[in-house]
Amino acid sequence: MAMDLKLEGRTALVTGASRGIGRGSALALAAEGVKIAVGARRRELLEELADEIVAAGGERPAIIVTPDLAAPGGGAYRVKDAALEALGRIDILVNSAGRSQNPDYPSPMPYDAPDAAWDQEMQLNYVTIRQLTLSLVPAMIERKYGRIINISGKTEPRELHTASPAKAAVHGWSKGLSRQVAKHGVTVNSIPPGKIISEQILRNYSEQQRQETSKWISSGDFGDPSDIANLVVFLASPLARYITGAVIPVDAGFRRFAY
Ligand SMILES: NC(=O)c1ccc[n+]([C@@H]2O[C@H](COP(=O)([O-])OP(=O)(O)OC[C@H]3O[C@@H](n4cnc5c(N)ncnc54)[C@H](OP(=O)(O)O)[C@@H]3O)[C@@H](O)[C@H]2O)c1
Repeated sequence: MAMDLKLEGRTALVTGASRGIGRGSALALAAEGVKIAVGARRRELLEELADEIVAAGGERPAIIVTPDLAAPGGGAYRVKDAALEALGRIDILVNSAGRSQNPDYPSPMPYDAPDAAWDQEMQLNYVTIRQLTLSLVPAMIERKYGRIINISGKTEPRELHTASPAKAAVHGWSKGLSRQVAKHGVTVNSIPPGKIISEQILRNYSEQQRQETSKWISSGDFGDPSDIANLVVFLASPLARYITGAVIPVDAGFRRFAY
């Protein structure tokens, strides 16, 4: 018998949905009957995504054009207000807006990069995620159902990147939060992706670099956003009620540690 994920009729907000893993997660949740709101800065890409979801038989998602979430300020609260206005309630939050490198700086990052470079990455990859999550958690606790799924990143960097401390912060903060909200039916988990073909990967890696990097991936190839989205959908489901505070890599063995 097919596994019923019991997601029909639930609601979700997916950030970073115009491209890559966020887009893949939005498609996968919509295919399970979840009513979704999708956020990003580029409206035209979100409209294309909405058309694709409708063409596949899903309900048209609400579109939220977000501000630059790397800028200091209350971008997260604007996204929350727009999502609640569109959906009424949010059961599932997928935090996928983010980046692994700042395109305005060389890679790896020079150790004496200015404060602004570190601050921007902390804002986008951690502060915004925390603010958006915490603004939705009280209502999740009240309804006894909530799923927070953070698309994070590896925390054993081989070189210096401004995003790395922010990814580590997400993992540390998620663990603490998960312990406070578990009794209320709210789970908090993080997925550090391996190498997944997305807009930033295509921007940061030449064809030759992709071939070189593939040698370090056990399966020998880069993944697809759907490889992450399959886990997102499961974590969003009531079936995943006993998984919380976890950091679950999806990387075909790219990460070298045994646990
Ligand atoms: N793909 C991988 O192999 C990989 C590996 C490790 C970690 N990750 C992490 O996974 C997450 C998703 O990455 P991805 O690979 O799917 O990237 P992607 O294809 O480049 O998509 C990034 C998404 O985030 C949004 N976004 C980026 N910067 C933003 C900003 N300043 N303000 C608002 N929205 C912003 C983009 O939308 P707009 O530009 O339209 O706003 C886009 O929808 C990131 O946190 C990344 O660090 C990915």
